[in-house]
Amino acid sequence: MLFYGRQDITEEDIRQVAEVLRSDLITTGPVTEEFESAFAAYVGAKHAVALCNATSALHLAMLVAGIGKGDRVVTSPNTFLASANCAAYVGATPDFVDIDPISHNLCPQALAREWKPDTGAVVAVHYAGGPADMEKIAEVARGNNALVIEDACHAVGGSIYKDGALRKIGSHGYADMTVFSFHPVKTMTCGEGGMLVTDNDDYAAKAKQLRTHGMTRNPEDMVGLNLSDLDERGPWYYEMQSLGYNMRITDFQCALGLSQLSRLDQSIRRRREIVATYNQAFSAAPFIKTPVLKDISLQDHTSWHLYTVQIDFETLGLTRTHVMERLHSNGVATQVLYIPVHLQPWYRQTYGYGQNKCPVAEQNYRQTLSLPLYPAMSEGDVQLVIDNVLAVTSVYDQVA
Ligand SMILES: Cc1ncc(COP(=O)(O)O)c(C=O)c1O
Repeated sequence: MLFYGRQDITEEDIRQVAEVLRSDLITTGPVTEEFESAFAAYVGAKHAVALCNATSALHLAMLVAGIGKGDRVVTSPNTFLASANCAAYVGATPDFVDIDPISHNLCPQALAREWKPDTGAVVAVHYAGGPADMEKIAEVARGNNALVIEDACHAVGGSIYKDGALRKIGSHGYADMTVFSFHPVKTMTCGEGGMLVTDNDDYAAKAKQLRTHGMTRNPEDMVGLNLSDLDERGPWYYEMQSLGYNMRITDFQCALGLSQLSRLDQSIRRRREIVATYNQAFSAAPFIKTPVLKDISLQDHTSWHLYTVQIDFETLGLTRTHVMERLHSNGVATQVLYIPVHLQPWYRQTYGYGQNKCPVAEQNYRQTLSLPLYPAMSEGDVQLVIDNVLAVTSVYDQVA
């Protein structure tokens, strides 16, 4: 079965994980620090904080930026729940602005038009890896004194232009913080894992503290227990200075992350090749729209996490479920990514959101289908997907 996404684990990955598992320290320790340094260097950012998943990274981004009750956080409806839930975790109000019909990312014009004065942050998502218009999003948000948090869970290794120069996502400067996911379907994996990346010293230090119960062992940060007979600060001594969480990642997961990072560029190149083959194969198919980059010059600098097409199921005269079942019976497992978040029952009940809030995202949802994309796919696998998708969406085939 070809799944829509799948981890790519080599014998070398396994060797590096096993090496850590045989060592004395297996939870957050020296390998986590090594992974953080290597990742920060790769994206070109000052700090990287490794966490148990990207949901926690988004949650911490809100906390360290001081987003909370009374703040609105605007994101794209075409995303995974976590991009919006992070606002609700801290008592802020998640809100949604419609997407651009071509990039399927947050539309900067709609963001400007619908701006509300209580907006404290914008969470910009790079759907499927295709970059959101960060320059315009940052212009709107920063022009209104709001922060920009970049949800780059789909876009590790991608780049965008800033002032004419190509800059890695995570260091282009249009975002205050950038978040990456290392879930198994993502472009690189730690099993589960996430990274919060920033150039801001204060955000990074706070995130590290909150990742482990708001504790510190750094003598320079100590404020004391304020009880003279209990204030002996021996080697055991630690202080809890804020209400934190356990969002730690293990060293053996970070060993996997380091190993995956070392061949990330190669893996992204393979993804790009598969995307090019699909685009070519589906270019003349009447009911299929292939993904389009708004800035075509980013073609060789985009890190594709998903290959998502739009299929006009209505004109085709077939339901999406039928198409998915036919593909599945021939070994091709597809997925629908995403149900617009504002339509989820909890969002409707809690914030009164509903249909027609984001019509472009809702129309996109009717037609979206993600096909298998991962580096280990062989040419034969790619051809199997193409043949089956063309067969099931071909009118001649339907008539026959
Ligand atoms: C756009 C987006 N944001 C956030 C997340 C959350 O990532 P994680 O599963 O690592 O918590 C995901 C994961 O699917 C995602 O796709």
